[in-house]
Amino acid sequence: MPLTPRPGIMEIKPYVGGEAQLPGANRVIRLASNENPLGASPRAAAAYTALQDQLHRYPDGAARELRETIAKLYGLASDRVVCGCGSDELIGLLVRAYAGPGDEVLYSQHGFLMYPIAAKSVGATPVSAPERDLTTDVDALLGRVTAKTRLVFVANPNNPTGSYLPATEMRRLREGLPEGVLLVIDAAYAEYLEQADYEPGAELVEAFDNVVMTRTFSKIHGLAALRLGWAYCSDEVAGVLNRLRGPFNVTAPAQAAGVAALRDEGHVMRARQHNARCLAWFSDEMRGLGLKVPPSVGNFVLVGFPKQAGRDAAAAALCLKGQGILVRGMAAYGLGDCLRMTIGTEEDMRAVAEALSGFMA
Ligand SMILES: Cc1ncc(COP(=O)(O)O)c(C=O)c1O
Repeated sequence: MPLTPRPGIMEIKPYVGGEAQLPGANRVIRLASNENPLGASPRAAAAYTALQDQLHRYPDGAARELRETIAKLYGLASDRVVCGCGSDELIGLLVRAYAGPGDEVLYSQHGFLMYPIAAKSVGATPVSAPERDLTTDVDALLGRVTAKTRLVFVANPNNPTGSYLPATEMRRLREGLPEGVLLVIDAAYAEYLEQADYEPGAELVEAFDNVVMTRTFSKIHGLAALRLGWAYCSDEVAGVLNRLRGPFNVTAPAQAAGVAALRDEGHVMRARQHNARCLAWFSDEMRGLGLKVPPSVGNFVLVGFPKQAGRDAAAAALCLKGQGILVRGMAAYGLGDCLRMTIGTEEDMRAVAEALSGFMA
């Protein structure tokens, strides 16, 4: 009997992260992975390095201080916060816990790629629902629910489209789903939003046992290297995740840096303000070049290029690369005419605007 992986695994197209290296370039501007251009809070970096002589110690497997800091900051119940090695780990654990062969995992057409990957990893079938104007369509999602649906993932706001669902729409989705279907609201970019009609999802978690909100330290907190995320859920779901996760799934330096990052509200505010300013300026610049830019509320923007040879997204990516600028191609998301660009520093974005102005001229 040959060695055989479980069904579904070989159907996975491995996730390809954003490009980060450009051998030979003097200067590389990395705008392919939605990282924070301001970096981590200096207080988080100090908390990280303070642990350098404690590397022989196991971390606190319960991540108590981190969970309590999260709970205090957001007004949540700390025993229903579960921390993970990035929110990616929590997405994977949720799928492992609630879906298996023959089940369906539903997500939105241009939703985050880890949802179908996680579904296939357990032998479940990923099912996508079409979007309207690059935005999650609640009716389309509800229309694709079957007796086999176990989980529905909605990134809010969504990566890579940058659009979001108002709280009323998210509630309508939950209310329209069967009780036995878990709604996972992936709020990786929540801290960037100031829209009055937006809620990251904690309110729905409080109101329904079958809703989970996931969050990350990789975006506004600038701690992507440390792999740190968290989920807020019901007692029951927290109990399930705590059984499935590794006993020490979050490293001690990540926990310490996470606590310090949460306490440095000034750094978060500066990152949010920088992003809002640069995102608006850069989107206008791109529109001024005749490019299509759907409104984004994240720390990135989708830029649509003409289909014309030499002017298309692939040619633009190549042109940017020639100037040391790395952005994300979108073919894997079914958006081959677009490039996703992270909002970097002001200098980064001026360099991109100048390069694309030359490209479009
Ligand atoms: C919507 C969304 N969810 C989750 C993640 C994963 O974040 P983490 O670094 O916490 O695994 C990302 C990362 O890009 C994302 O865009």
